[in-house]
Amino acid sequence: MSHHLVAPSILAADFANLEREVKMINESQADWIHVDVMDGVFVPNFSLGIPVVEAIKRHTKKPLDVHLMIVNPEHHVEAFQKAGADHISVHVEVCKHLQRNIQQIKALGCKAGVALNPHTPVMDLENIVAEVDLIIVMSVNPGFGGQKFIEHTYQKVRQLKSLILQTKSTAKIEIDGGVNLQNSRPLLDAGADVLIAGNFVFSASKPTEVIKQLKSV
Ligand code: DX5
Ligand code: ZN
Repeated sequence: MSHHLVAPSILAADFANLEREVKMINESQADWIHVDVMDGVFVPNFSLGIPVVEAIKRHTKKPLDVHLMIVNPEHHVEAFQKAGADHISVHVEVCKHLQRNIQQIKALGCKAGVALNPHTPVMDLENIVAEVDLIIVMSVNPGFGGQKFIEHTYQKVRQLKSLILQTKSTAKIEIDGGVNLQNSRPLLDAGADVLIAGNFVFSASKPTEVIKQLKSV
């Protein structure tokens, strides 16, 4: 039996019915709620900000897994923690002082994560992997939900898993983008710990059933 986690991505939810969507997740087997924050600078899209994170938090006890796709995350992490973020991940591509960013997030009492774009080498994490709690491997280019899964991700996950084992890191590997029932088992076999899924969950007629299926892969 597998002990992996499932985190529905709220980006794919109906924002006009956010309370209903969050309650659906509450009643499901989902472990965390993944929350995508986009700034229109690091990625070519905007998504949601502090007030929406606060609104989600008011309706759930499930941990909020906040994925910051923004430049200068150090200016905003405290506001996201106050809004209710339990986990905060920043992109390695925008952090000149990544170790400081990670320590800042931990000092706020949150789990700290790093996210990697599809082209970013796993080895960029060599000197930080022992200090992070979470690593988000992007399996699409960040910015939009509903994109096609990049197959090269399996190889990256295997590399990352061996780096984690070598360094005795406790980091969990999250997969973000295009996750579905076809790629979930191979991703878990490669070393993934957390499946993030947006469109695959929310476009289904019975999202709680899809979450259950992702949990029992
Ligand atoms: C992409 C986001 C993802 C996205 C995943 O930039 O980081 O979290 O919501 O959505 P799907 O599962 O639809 O690819
Ligand atoms: Zn994400």
